[in-house]
Amino acid sequence: MSIDYCGIRIVLVSVALFITITAILASLRFGARSSPLLSYLKPSGASTFSTSAQRPLLNSTMAPPQYRKPPQLPPRFTATPESLIEDTKRLIARSRAVQDDIVKSITRETANFNNTILPVALDDNKMSREAHIIGFFQAVSTDKKLRDASTEAEKLLDDFVIESSMREDVFNLVDAVAQKKEELDPESARLLEKDHKSYIRNGLGIPAGPKRDRFKEIKKRLSEISITFQKNLNEEQGGIWFTPEELDGVPEDLVASFKKGEGENEGKVWLTFKYPDLFPTLKYAHNAETRKRVFIENENKCSENVPLFREAVLLRDEAARLLGYENHAQFRIEDKMAKTPKTVDDFLGDLRGRLAPGGKTEIAKLLELKKQDLKERNVNDGSESKYFLWDHRYYDRLMLEKDYSLDQQKISEYFPLSTTIQGMLKIFEELFGLVFIELVGADRDALADGGKGSDIVWHEDVQVYSVWDEESAGAEFVGYLYLDLFPREGKYGHAANFNVQSAGNDENGVRRYPATALVCNFSKPTPKKPSLLKHDEVVTLFHELGHGIHDLVARTKYSRFHGTATSRDYVELPSQLLENWCWEPSLIKSLSHHYSHLSTEYENEYKESSGADKKPAERIPSEMVASIISTKHVNDALFNLRQLHFGIFDMTVHTPASHEELEKLDITTLYNRLRNEISQLDGPEALSETKDWTWGNGQATFGHLIGGYDAGYYGYLSSQVYSTDIFYTVFKNDPMNGKEGRKYRHAVLEKGGSKEEMSILEDFLGRKPNTDAFFKDLGIYK
Ligand SMILES: *[C@@H]1O[C@H](CO)[C@@H](O)[C@H](O)[C@H]1NC(C)=O
Ligand SMILES: *[C@@H]1O[C@H](CO)[C@@H](O)[C@H](O)[C@H]1NC(C)=O
Ligand SMILES: *[C@@H]1O[C@H](CO)[C@@H](O)[C@H](O)[C@H]1NC(C)=O
Repeated sequence: MSIDYCGIRIVLVSVALFITITAILASLRFGARSSPLLSYLKPSGASTFSTSAQRPLLNSTMAPPQYRKPPQLPPRFTATPESLIEDTKRLIARSRAVQDDIVKSITRETANFNNTILPVALDDNKMSREAHIIGFFQAVSTDKKLRDASTEAEKLLDDFVIESSMREDVFNLVDAVAQKKEELDPESARLLEKDHKSYIRNGLGIPAGPKRDRFKEIKKRLSEISITFQKNLNEEQGGIWFTPEELDGVPEDLVASFKKGEGENEGKVWLTFKYPDLFPTLKYAHNAETRKRVFIENENKCSENVPLFREAVLLRDEAARLLGYENHAQFRIEDKMAKTPKTVDDFLGDLRGRLAPGGKTEIAKLLELKKQDLKERNVNDGSESKYFLWDHRYYDRLMLEKDYSLDQQKISEYFPLSTTIQGMLKIFEELFGLVFIELVGADRDALADGGKGSDIVWHEDVQVYSVWDEESAGAEFVGYLYLDLFPREGKYGHAANFNVQSAGNDENGVRRYPATALVCNFSKPTPKKPSLLKHDEVVTLFHELGHGIHDLVARTKYSRFHGTATSRDYVELPSQLLENWCWEPSLIKSLSHHYSHLSTEYENEYKESSGADKKPAERIPSEMVASIISTKHVNDALFNLRQLHFGIFDMTVHTPASHEELEKLDITTLYNRLRNEISQLDGPEALSETKDWTWGNGQATFGHLIGGYDAGYYGYLSSQVYSTDIFYTVFKNDPMNGKEGRKYRHAVLEKGGSKEEMSILEDFLGRKPNTDAFFKDLGIYK
């Protein structure tokens, strides 16, 4: 729900949402990433990194003087439920007054950028400095009352945004400014264009009357549908009773955590469709019937969403046509990087053509593995010639274990949370010319504006850093970074980055600095047991902090364009780019630090639990690094074909030739047919003569296409393509090249969304981005 019109952008709503979606997406993946690529095993270019990685980060007591006095105090987290609501009402009243004043004092004749657009934009800067924190409490506060107040406050803000977006009187003046074509600096010109356009996109370009009323009615209904659809997903309660034998192979401690049956279900356990139950079952259950049942019934959950999905697609089509577009996709993509549905369709079609042969090869190998497995287990169910949807997670996992001997637990021993995070921040220091100073003790108190050091965090576990430019770049202040790493009652349960305070200029043209938070759910270390990260969790950390770095180093005048406030088919690029560092041998090595080297207690714990009599070397062995890297692309064509299925389905339902055609479309059949054609995996239809394509309704079971990724799912793939291009072109030979890192920081990250995103990339690369590196990385050289 990216709500951005009229210069007011409530980023947290959209950021929180897409981050949730990213987390879910990660779990939608087929399995671990993975065709081993020789190029990855070669040592990568000169890296000066390994030596300094072990130098600890500075804290404030040790920091040199130039890093001691941030020019802006950090926000304080001392709100009460009452103050949150009061503050929200105050912010809304102030913004409304700004708009009212403009309408009162300005006419179409006198309207210009300085008297009409600018005051609203500056008020928006102020608003986002305070409003994001107000909404942030619902994700991190330990106090339920405060979380509830935060949710309520956010609702008030959302309503206000909608009210503002419908103000004809303000639009009238904005429109007058747009007609005047004043000479403006590029960022201001972009702001005016985007503001103007968003009123029109919200229906104000339709003449008042029955058509506009119908448009408004549709928007209202679409918002209800979206809420209900998501609610149905959240509150879904389905599951299946299984006997423990039917779950043979599923990790015992997981099965032990399932609800036990009584009465007629005596002796059985209840498997829910929640991901932590569902995925391990599909990965480990030996019994194919069990996996099949789980798979099909999961695809049939939330059937009440089926009519809602259809209704939404029809209403979107109608609304787009009322606005004068050919279809909803054209409406949605116009202001994205891709610009037209044709660009997206061509992109997806090209990927599909190139990935299909890879998918076939992967299936053939998996099928071999399946035959062998069935033989070894003495199973004769006649299924050995088919590779089913419910086979994939199981054999993908088996392949990783057998062919790549990937032992996730052993690997994780080398990545304790504390040293990994320190190492990661060191990498960002070297690459981007940043300095992170942890604020501790009296220095923290000194920043609390007369309060206590604890006022500048929301929980005692939270670490806070002041972030600076390096000495040679002037040691200027950059912003604040928070790390909130461990689970708590009521806290957001995935890894995500939240903007806490947006940056941008104030009324006097003085720059205000950002504050950003990394919020995770890693188990808390104890003196006996450290928190250890699996490799994919290390990747997630880089990804999420990638959003954080974008948020910190952006330099825009308007918070509307700050950091991650970019178009959605671009926003994942910086974080996907940083994931690449986690697949470089030299970097993996220098980040590693076996936990037995952290303390004597841990050393003893290690010896006790492993039975070893001495601790291993501190750094991860090279064979283990090679094994991690060899899995990067295992079954990756199939993974990307799955993504393509979502993307192509999304585009198909949003680009009907006519409204009548859409009315006739059987969406469920389309979903299943496309899945079969694109992924090339067999579903239940392969088991019947009649080919029933209505065996499941996957479109009703995930939130993306209703919750903001409509005609936008392709964005995951396109930003992957662009980030891979940048990595190969600029960093692959020397990932720790600080000159290139700083160039990237200033040419790309710094711009946020203040420039056309495609031109940011073209300026940086010196050419248009292309798909070559993406295919090379996947092992497809064509
Ligand atoms: C600050 O850093 C120094 C040097 O690394 C260390 O000795 C000290 O314990 C740290 N202080 C705090 C409060 O973490
Ligand atoms: C708008 O304000 C800026 C800064 O005060 C000034 O430089 C510019 O000339 C003004 N533009 C117009 C059209 O008045
Ligand atoms: C977050 O951590 C808690 C406690 O370890 C765990 O119960 C929960 O399942 C985790 N959340 C997710 C989404 O994994």
